[in-house]
Amino acid sequence: MSLLHKFFLLYFLPLLIAQAKPLKTIPFNLFFDDDGINCENFQYPSEILAPVPYLKECLSTIDVLAVFPGDPDYYNSIKVANCRNNYFPVVVIYATTISDIQKSIHCANTLNISATARSGGHSFEEYGNGGKNGVMVIDVQEFKQIDINFETKTAIIGVGNRLGEIYHKLNKFGYLISAGECINVGLGGHATGGGFGWTGRKYGLASDNIVSAEMVTANGTFISPINLTHHSDLFFAIRGAGNAGYGIITSLTLKIYPVLPIITSITISYLPEQVELAFITFAKVAKNFNENLSGYMALRSKNSNTYTFIFTATYLGIEEEARSAVKELIELSNPAYIKFEEMTWLGIVDSYPPFTRQPFKITSYTIPPSGFSQEAIRALVNFVDDSECQAIALLDLYASEAVSSISINSSAFIHRNIFGVLELELPLKGYSKEVQIKCIEKHLQFRQEFQAKYTSYFSYQDYIDKDLSDWLTRYYGPHVNRLIEIKKKYDPNNLFNWKQSIPTKLP
Ligand SMILES: Cc1cc2nc3c(=O)[nH]c(=O)nc-3n(C[C@H](O)[C@H](O)[C@H](O)COP(=O)(O)OP(=O)(O)OC[C@H]3O[C@@H](n4cnc5c(N)ncnc54)[C@H](O)[C@@H]3O)c2cc1C
Ligand SMILES: *[C@@H]1O[C@H](CO)[C@@H](O)[C@H](O)[C@H]1NC(C)=O
Ligand SMILES: *[C@@H]1O[C@H](CO)[C@@H](O)[C@H](O)[C@H]1NC(C)=O
Ligand SMILES: *[C@@H]1O[C@H](CO)[C@@H](O)[C@H](O)[C@H]1NC(C)=O
Ligand SMILES: *[C@@H]1O[C@H](CO)[C@@H](O)[C@H](O)[C@H]1NC(C)=O
Ligand SMILES: *[C@@H]1O[C@H](CO)[C@@H](O)[C@H](O)[C@H]1NC(C)=O
Repeated sequence: MSLLHKFFLLYFLPLLIAQAKPLKTIPFNLFFDDDGINCENFQYPSEILAPVPYLKECLSTIDVLAVFPGDPDYYNSIKVANCRNNYFPVVVIYATTISDIQKSIHCANTLNISATARSGGHSFEEYGNGGKNGVMVIDVQEFKQIDINFETKTAIIGVGNRLGEIYHKLNKFGYLISAGECINVGLGGHATGGGFGWTGRKYGLASDNIVSAEMVTANGTFISPINLTHHSDLFFAIRGAGNAGYGIITSLTLKIYPVLPIITSITISYLPEQVELAFITFAKVAKNFNENLSGYMALRSKNSNTYTFIFTATYLGIEEEARSAVKELIELSNPAYIKFEEMTWLGIVDSYPPFTRQPFKITSYTIPPSGFSQEAIRALVNFVDDSECQAIALLDLYASEAVSSISINSSAFIHRNIFGVLELELPLKGYSKEVQIKCIEKHLQFRQEFQAKYTSYFSYQDYIDKDLSDWLTRYYGPHVNRLIEIKKKYDPNNLFNWKQSIPTKLP
């Protein structure tokens, strides 16, 4: 046994043992701190406060923390990243073992209650709380196993780990996973619907790095492993649609990659009058950036900042290489501000600003390889400039071998040969309900025209959006029928169902 392996056992074994004990109080909630500053107080609908007959009795046979409407912790147990919708579950169960999940599902089936998994609570539509009232939420944030296999360069990772926790723990051993940027996002909902971030152009999406998974299905069966040869249909579905109602995933085995000692952070910024040229240049040159670079463009209203168009990127290597990677962009677009900074991997990870709970609305678009036309850029800039609610456009650059070389048929994730994913963010905090509603209406109107005219047909399922038309096709393309067949096999009675879960028949 190598020293590293021994260290691993010393370090992680106590964590694994601690995991089996039932919780007495609800886990520290990352969203506790807002105290209604950004979110209006909840309006409890009275019918939800009425207890479901026999639910408490059924769950009392499990040694698990279950929070019901009316309990002192109920309010905190349903705090999630967004607070625009507010759904009220009949119970939130903090599972710590597979058997907790199985027994909870048994109660849901017996009492005819829908069930939902919740890992990090970062769904844009609050689907972690069920996506409708009256659901049994099975919270799996205590599934915090991290078990590295140094030979196969993979790690078994519990779905309850936040991305930041994973980056920090793996970094102790010199490794990373390829996933998103927000450190508070939960692995379970994230890696199963895509997952793109700091190293995406080099190592691909988190879902493409899944080699195996474990899941409790709708009849309480624990399936392990789910991989290319065992339950291969489910393996296809969970890489792209794993957060859309197939069951409760408890762990994912992901490929891991060595951390480089030096990573360069890049910031390139433009003044409002430079935006159009910068955008056009970016659309032209960015797809040829070498794969060590991953990053996104952020477009803000001309009234908001000195710089309104900012490219933020990481380069897996030293400053000199980073400079040469973006040389063409800089020469052709003459930015107003340029910064390169050599950092450690954790320096990059921890640089992501903490996210506080707030109301927001987000729509997403996949951009074809040709990028943007001048007309599309003008439409977008005008929309952002005129937005009463300070809309922000974020464009994640995907174009790279790591994303596009994987066959569209190898998993439920279809967004392959694209320039990138555009995300239109509408932060709603601080506005009256009337203004919020008006801003959302305008946003959705703009989306309809913009999507029809300037983007490809599809949207990114990890940026889930309940107002998206034809969402099954826009998220899953040619795989809709196959996904429905797999859903029918593993969840025939549609235990896991909400507005955008995979249905058991075509709508
Ligand atoms: C501030 C912020 C930053 C983000 N940054 C990025 C980013 O950089 N890159 C990116 O790609 N995405 C990003 N996202 C989007 C994020 O990937 C999705 O919102 C993701 O689904 C959140 O997962 P979660 O476990 O935290 O959320 P949850 O709300 O807990 O779950 C989301 C959905 O997945 C289902 N689910 C959760 N856990 C499981 C499980 N164990 N088994 C089966 N289904 C499950 C839930 O039922 C729900 O439908 C960001 C989101 C936010 C709010
Ligand atoms: C279960 O609940 C659904 C909707 O909540 C209802 O339509 C259905 O009839 C119920 N089934 C049984 C067996 O009670
Ligand atoms: C799937 O898991 C089984 C059982 O561990 C293993 O024998 C098989 O080799 C795995 N398949 C792949 C493709 O890794
Ligand atoms: C990317 O980085 C690796 C590791 O430092 C290096 O070997 C490779 O040449 C770089 N790729 C390019 C295109 O510069
Ligand atoms: C994917 O599968 C479909 C139907 O099975 C087939 O028509 C299509 O050509 C395949 N696409 C690729 C890129 O392999
Ligand atoms: C439970 O569902 C699995 C598929 O998820 C199936 O293989 C199994 O036969 C089912 N068991 C029972 C008892 O119905």
